[in-house]
Amino acid sequence: MRSKVRAGIVGVGVGIPDKVLTNHDLERRIDTTDEWIVTRTGIRERRIAPPSVATSDLAAQAARHALQSAGKHAEEVDLIVVATATPDMPWPATACLVQAKIGAARAAAFDLNAVCSGFVYALWIAAQAVETGAYRCVLVIGADILSRQVNWDDRATCVLFGDGAGAVVLTPVEEPYGVLSGVMGADGTGAPLLHVPAGGTREPLSPEAIARKRHTVHMRGREVFKFAVTIMGEVSVQALEKAGISPEQVNLFIPHQANIRIIQAAAERLNLPMERVFVNVDRYGNTSAASIPIAIYEAWAQGRLKKGDVAVVVGFGAGLTWGACVLRWAY
Ligand code: UT7
Repeated sequence: MRSKVRAGIVGVGVGIPDKVLTNHDLERRIDTTDEWIVTRTGIRERRIAPPSVATSDLAAQAARHALQSAGKHAEEVDLIVVATATPDMPWPATACLVQAKIGAARAAAFDLNAVCSGFVYALWIAAQAVETGAYRCVLVIGADILSRQVNWDDRATCVLFGDGAGAVVLTPVEEPYGVLSGVMGADGTGAPLLHVPAGGTREPLSPEAIARKRHTVHMRGREVFKFAVTIMGEVSVQALEKAGISPEQVNLFIPHQANIRIIQAAAERLNLPMERVFVNVDRYGNTSAASIPIAIYEAWAQGRLKKGDVAVVVGFGAGLTWGACVLRWAY
């Protein structure tokens, strides 16, 4: 009997701006301290894209890097999914701009917006597109430039975010490798907890909206924190159960990098020691949809993801949204 075909990650890459903004730099601009930021979030620095760089630029950089790592040509790609909440422009989709930039002429392209959960949503949807045989070479990209959407006068939010992109190449792989399970969820009643109120059809951009900073991130931090602490552990347990894998079998837990305290709480829920948890929030802050693929890339580049390893990727974000996938690393 032929073994089951699954979707597996066969290449990873990143597009990360060079400019570093440290907590000490922020101390000079707003009423905050390095000590407050490190204690409450674990963040020490983040990357900021220069004004000439848009989301599709970082996404294309990550995509080229991932294709190179997979040994694939852009013409082989048949689908591009860009998870982003900060597209280059309202439309067309950033994925189309990436398609043109990398020369993936055969690929269909669309964006997916689940904010910080976007990459996990995109990975799970794309994995099923590969498993069914509908697509054979999919670029799944998480890319965001949150520095363009934060209110740099609001110390409660501007210290949290950074810019970046990460990409993976998904192709069919044989069991036991690949994406083993996925879970996604949403609770739209929580939308007001974390949102950018203006700039859409509800509240179009206007001089007044801009003056009132309605086009920037508005967040009820404590409530988002409480939600995140519960959901990260819960959805990971659900995805593991679906895959028939116990938490003890997890080699590496790769959570959305929003806040070290949220990450630690999720690890505790799974009874995982921090040695089996990937953390880079200290160097990048919260890069939204890019945080998990950047973490996957760094984990792989550091030799912490080896063929056969079981990894859990899990995210939460505005929406509210959440999602987790269990993978057996394929290369
Ligand atoms: O991808 C999803 C993105 N969102 C998140 O992950 C956010 C989840 N929430 C959090 O991570 C935390 O709620 C924060 C890190 C945002 C805030 O930590 P907290 O422990 O919940 O602090 P808080 O909001 O309750 O604020 C405590 C104090 C307040 O002062 P008072 O009212 O106690 O005098 C804030 O004004 O800290 C103050 N504060 C700051 N002080 C120095 C808020 N931001 C800062 C700051 N520097 N940057």
